[in-house]
Amino acid sequence: MRIAVARETDVYEGRVAATPETVKKFKALGAEVAVARGAGIASGMPDADYEAAGATISDNPAADADLVLKVRRPTPAEFAAYKKGALVIAIMDPYGNEAALKQMADAGLVGFAMELMPRITRAQSMDVLSSQANLAGYRAVIDAAAEYGRALPMMMTAAGTVPAAKVFIMGVGVAGLQAIATARRLGAVVSATDVRPATKEQVESLGAKFLAVEDEEFKNAQTAGGYAKEMSKEYQAKQAALTAEHIKKQDIVITTALIPGRPAPRLITAEMVASMRPGSVIVDLAVERGGNVAGAQAGQVANVGGVKILGYLNVPGRLAASASALYAKNLLTFVETMIDKKEKKLAVNWDDELVKATVLTRDGAIVHPSFQPKTAA
Ligand code: NAI
Repeated sequence: MRIAVARETDVYEGRVAATPETVKKFKALGAEVAVARGAGIASGMPDADYEAAGATISDNPAADADLVLKVRRPTPAEFAAYKKGALVIAIMDPYGNEAALKQMADAGLVGFAMELMPRITRAQSMDVLSSQANLAGYRAVIDAAAEYGRALPMMMTAAGTVPAAKVFIMGVGVAGLQAIATARRLGAVVSATDVRPATKEQVESLGAKFLAVEDEEFKNAQTAGGYAKEMSKEYQAKQAALTAEHIKKQDIVITTALIPGRPAPRLITAEMVASMRPGSVIVDLAVERGGNVAGAQAGQVANVGGVKILGYLNVPGRLAASASALYAKNLLTFVETMIDKKEKKLAVNWDDELVKATVLTRDGAIVHPSFQPKTAA
C-alpha cells in the first residue's frame, strides 16, 4: 500500500494534505508514504520532519502510489503522473466543474471529494468543511481587525475613551459561529443574522445579539441536512431592508452565507456599502462562490468610498499550519476506514455510506449521482 502526499500547485495554496504526525499513523497502518519535495514548507513542515516520521521525499511521489492525498483537485498536468486506478482524495470543488471531473474519470482515477462527506456523527472527524470554515471564521476577524484603523475593545485611558467596535456577522454556520466567538474575545459588540431559526439560540449563547426577519418562511428555512435553503425574492427584500438599517451603524461586517451547490446569496448592496462610514471594514468569506457583497473582488482588498472590502481567497490557507494539521487529520480518519488493518492493504468498501457520498469518479466514469453528465435531449 503506497500513499503519496502531493505538492499543491495553486499559487494561493499553502496547505498540505499530510503532516509528519499523520505520516507516522499511515506508516503504523502498514503504508509506504512518499511526500513531494517541499510539500509542507508553506505550512512550516520541512522535508526533514516527514523523513523523521518515516516518509521518503520524492520529486514524483504519485508515480506508483495506490492513493494520492491532496488539498485541491489535481489538474490534468498533475494527474498525468498518477498511476491508473489510483485513489485520489482532495477538496474537489465539484459543483460546476463537471468537465474537470470527466477528465479525472478519463484518466482512470478514483476521485473522492472530502467536502461531500455526510454530516453524521461517525464522520464528524472527517468533516473538512467544518475544520476549515472554523479557521476561516477566526481569520476573518483577525484580518478585519488588522485593516480597521481603530481598536476593537473599549479602552478607557487617561487620554480618552476608545469605543468598542460594532461587528456584524451574516451567516452563522461553522465560520460565522467562530467569527462571533473571536470578535467577542477581542471585546467587540457583536450582532449576527442567519436564515436558519436554529442559529438564534446559538448566537445568543455566544453573547451576541440576533437580528433576522422571523416570519413563516424563516421557520422553514432549514433543510433536513441542516443547511440553508435559497430564500424567496420577498424574503430577501425584507431581509435587505432590515439589514440596511443595521449595517449603517456597524464598523466591521463579516459575511459567510452559503447555500450548497448554489451561488452565494447577495446580502450587501452597493448602497449598503456606501451607507457605512469611511474606515469601516467588510470581509466577504463567500467571495469564491460568487460573493455576498457588492464590490468584493476575489483576491483583493477593494476600497469603495473609504470602506475596505476584503475578498481574500482561500482564507483557511492564510493559517496554513493550523489548516493543514486539521485537514490532514480529516484525511487520516477517512483513509483509516479504507484500510484492512490485518492485511495492511487498501480495501475500499464501496457500499459504505461515506464512500458512496464522496466518490466522484470510478472505472472511467463520473459515478456520483449529483454530477451525472448532461445527456443530449
Ligand atoms: P454553510 O457554509 O453552508 O453556510 C453558512 C451559513 O450561511 C449557514 O448558517 C446558512 O444558514 C447561512 N445563510 C445562507 N443563506 C443566507 C442568507 N440569505 N442570509 C443569512 N444567512 C444565510 O454552513 P455550514 O457552516 O456548513 O453549516 C451548516 C449547518 O451544518 C449548520 O447547522 C451547522 O451547525 C451544521 N453542521 C453539522 C455538522 C454535523 O452534524 N456533523 C458539522 C458541521 C456543521
